[in-house]
Amino acid sequence: MSYGEFPGARPRRLRTSPAMRRLVAETRLDPAELILPAFVREGISEPQAISSMPGVYQHTRDTLRKAAAEAASAGVGGIMLFGVPEVKDAIGSQGTEPDGILQLAIRDVVAEVGDDLVVMSDLCLDEYTDHGHCGVLDAEGRVDNDATLERYAEMAQVQADAGVHVVGPSGMMDGQVGVVRDALDEIGRQDVAILAYTAKYASAFYGPFREAVNSSLKGDRKTYQQDPANFRESMRELALDLAEGADMVMVKPALPYLDVLRKVADTVDVPVAAYQISGEYAMVEAAAANGWIDRDRTIMETLTSIRRAGANMILTYWATEVAQRL
Ligand code: PBG
Repeated sequence: MSYGEFPGARPRRLRTSPAMRRLVAETRLDPAELILPAFVREGISEPQAISSMPGVYQHTRDTLRKAAAEAASAGVGGIMLFGVPEVKDAIGSQGTEPDGILQLAIRDVVAEVGDDLVVMSDLCLDEYTDHGHCGVLDAEGRVDNDATLERYAEMAQVQADAGVHVVGPSGMMDGQVGVVRDALDEIGRQDVAILAYTAKYASAFYGPFREAVNSSLKGDRKTYQQDPANFRESMRELALDLAEGADMVMVKPALPYLDVLRKVADTVDVPVAAYQISGEYAMVEAAAANGWIDRDRTIMETLTSIRRAGANMILTYWATEVAQRL
């Protein structure tokens, strides 16, 4: 029986068996390209569950060390540290205290796994400010770009002093990469690399992160993070970050911005990271908990898609679990 000329070709031949599909797969995941974001909170004696991110914790210094060791032995490539201080204030003082929680955690993790994991730190003020913004405010309550840059410069220096390998300026202030580079070079830390949060969108998917860092933010970050409607704007941010000295660039969130990721990956000659953020994690966990989707398959599909869209590195809260599975 024949129906004319179709099918003229049979792509299904290459999908016939698991072995065949594995052979022709164009994208593979490797634990070494995964980065585990981790929270450490000051003043707690037990890890605290984050209700909107089941399976993710605010760590004590001790349990953070263990989580880092576990990630390292699973072959994960890096860890991105976030500090949650006990006391927050208008200028985020704890972000620049040499013995602030993030700085202590950097020392701990570098001592524990510094030879096996690339240790990175979030360089931003929102974890430390009582108003929850990523910068300091002016008299009218607006985020003051240039005054914030001075705080970032100081943060970069204390984080470098603590031994961090890579800083991740994530506040979307104009000029932040250049100022951080200068601040590091000024104290002789040409060796500390910058992972720039280059195309960072004002996203509703950050929701669970607010709980993760006990943020009291009211309002939003739309005056500094990018409008989800914009694509070309990311190219402008990219050019600026590269000119200012970014060693690696990031797109964030990941899954809703794969078009941006693809374009960035096709444009640059530096490594490209994508951050699968708290809300992306929560969405999958919540649907899986309801039995609506297959959790493990969904996780692998999201990560494969992010990789396929051009990310060399992926920040994901599932890093250790996925590395173990791989
Ligand atoms: C800023 C920062 C945020 C995240 C990473 N760095 C919050 C924000 O920009 O609003 C979000 C990460 C996530 O949602 O998983 N310090």
